[in-house]
Amino acid sequence: MKPINLLSRNRHVITAALSIIMVRVSYCTLNNSTLPAIATYFGTKGRYEEVNPHLLDNILSVNNSLMGPPSSDCKAVHLIAVIRHGTRYPTAKNVKKIAHLYDLVMAEASSSTWWLKDIKSKWAMWYTEDMDGKLVTKGKFDHRYLAIRLAKTFPTLISRDNLLGNRIEFMTSSKHRCVDSIKAFQEGLHQHWDVQGLNFTHYVNDSLMRFFDQCRKFVEDVENSKTALKEVEIFKTSVEMDGVRRKMASRLQIPHTLITPDLVEAAFFLCAYELAIKSENSPWCSLLDEEDAEVVEYKSDLKQYWKRAYGYDINRKSSCSLFHDIFRRLDEASYSYRRGEVTKAAAVQVGHGETLLPLLSLMGFFRDETPLTAENFAEQRGRRFRTSRIAPYAANLLFVLHECSDGLRLQLFLNEKPLPLPNMSHPAPLYDTVRAHYSGLLHGCDFNKECELPKVNSMNTEL
Ligand SMILES: *[C@@H]1O[C@H](CO)[C@@H](O)[C@H](O)[C@H]1NC(C)=O
Ligand SMILES: *[C@@H]1O[C@H](CO)[C@@H](O)[C@H](O)[C@H]1NC(C)=O
Ligand SMILES: *[C@@H]1O[C@H](CO)[C@@H](O)[C@H](O)[C@H]1NC(C)=O
Ligand SMILES: *[C@@H]1O[C@H](CO)[C@@H](O)[C@H](O)[C@H]1NC(C)=O
Ligand SMILES: *[C@@H]1O[C@H](CO)[C@@H](O)[C@H](O)[C@H]1NC(C)=O
Ligand SMILES: *[C@@H]1O[C@H](CO)[C@@H](O)[C@H](O)[C@H]1NC(C)=O
Repeated sequence: MKPINLLSRNRHVITAALSIIMVRVSYCTLNNSTLPAIATYFGTKGRYEEVNPHLLDNILSVNNSLMGPPSSDCKAVHLIAVIRHGTRYPTAKNVKKIAHLYDLVMAEASSSTWWLKDIKSKWAMWYTEDMDGKLVTKGKFDHRYLAIRLAKTFPTLISRDNLLGNRIEFMTSSKHRCVDSIKAFQEGLHQHWDVQGLNFTHYVNDSLMRFFDQCRKFVEDVENSKTALKEVEIFKTSVEMDGVRRKMASRLQIPHTLITPDLVEAAFFLCAYELAIKSENSPWCSLLDEEDAEVVEYKSDLKQYWKRAYGYDINRKSSCSLFHDIFRRLDEASYSYRRGEVTKAAAVQVGHGETLLPLLSLMGFFRDETPLTAENFAEQRGRRFRTSRIAPYAANLLFVLHECSDGLRLQLFLNEKPLPLPNMSHPAPLYDTVRAHYSGLLHGCDFNKECELPKVNSMNTEL
């Protein structure tokens, strides 16, 4: 793929100035007292600030006690950052559901609450189908400021010299929201290091960042299967979901039968989007309380679990090529470091929630002993697999290779918090120990083999 040129110096100055104005608007209008009570349950539609609330006070603050090296004798020598795109508009499909909810509420709802008055008199439907998942302005800031925080955290890796020396590689999925995110990330580095005259480039690589589209077994057995998400379908008719529908119907004074599970979800998403995109505590948030939000959050987690994580083995295995690519980079960094030459300092790879969840699952993170099902909502209250914590907008998984007095060590971070490797006691084990731990995957996990469909003659198979 050809490198793509980015940004002239002048445009950089203008966007940097603009961002100073925008940061005041977008981060000071909201404080904790105005946060919707359900803000921490939005799953993959949650804000990054909900997993790192200190950013609401200062978007550039880095918690050094969390992000420091494993010990003072260690020095970071290589960084790989796998990052989800920033805040985005709803997809066309969700805009349709939101429009349906809006029409129903405008036509039928009749309670005399302040929030219904606000919806009817002050709120206008502004989402349109052509917004279809595009990155919003807040999403650019997510990446711009993440870039600056990472440059502050790893100043010897994401450094001016390494940028000018072309020792940092930028790679992205082809989706516009990802390409726009990586450009915003680079603008952040421009702002931080003032690298005048540097033309940033990035590579598009969908076989690494959108591997799920190219894994035929995943597409056939999960994505296009009518039964793969049956737990989600069953949960829609559960007593828990029915309870949420009844409560929402009674708040709106609308017959319970008109409030479908899809409309419950539309209200939930609407509150999430108004917060994520506009930093507003919307009157729509009053349609659900925290107890309701826990149920809708579980529905979202069920979907991610069965479609992107432990539910089916192929979900995890579809990320084999990304897994191998990461360890190839770490291997190369460790070889060249041992030979005393540093050719590459960092790789920044922008993709999707659907990129991160399979990779995290392949590596054994956030695995619950019992699978998530339609029946065990109550039992799963304390589950590890909670996408609100794992994969908000701009979620990021960092692999940091350190040179320590006793050898190379690997340290992982998720969303700027240490992520201990599963079943390992040391927070940053020796790199060789990590390789031994994952030797099964390192010597197997062949994307082509895992993703190929069994060669049966489907004409002869009775269905
Ligand atoms: C938080 O928001 C409330 C309601 O808008 C406002 O009264 C209060 O002054 C704000 N607090 C801060 C610290 O900005
Ligand atoms: C919001 O809450 C977080 C953690 O609960 C706290 O760190 C932060 O200082 C609070 N911000 C404001 C503006 O009150
Ligand atoms: C930084 O992290 C430490 C350790 O978890 C925590 O105690 C402290 O409150 C954090 N500081 C901020 C500003 O969030
Ligand atoms: C960056 O691109 C501009 C315009 O294409 C070109 O004039 C300039 O020489 C390039 N700078 C570097 C450092 O390659
Ligand atoms: C994407 O990355 C993989 C692994 O590094 C590489 O084999 C492949 O050639 C790349 N594809 C493109 C289109 O650059
Ligand atoms: C961790 O240990 C448990 C129990 O010994 C095992 O079932 C699980 O597969 C291990 N996880 C990983 C990622 O090795």
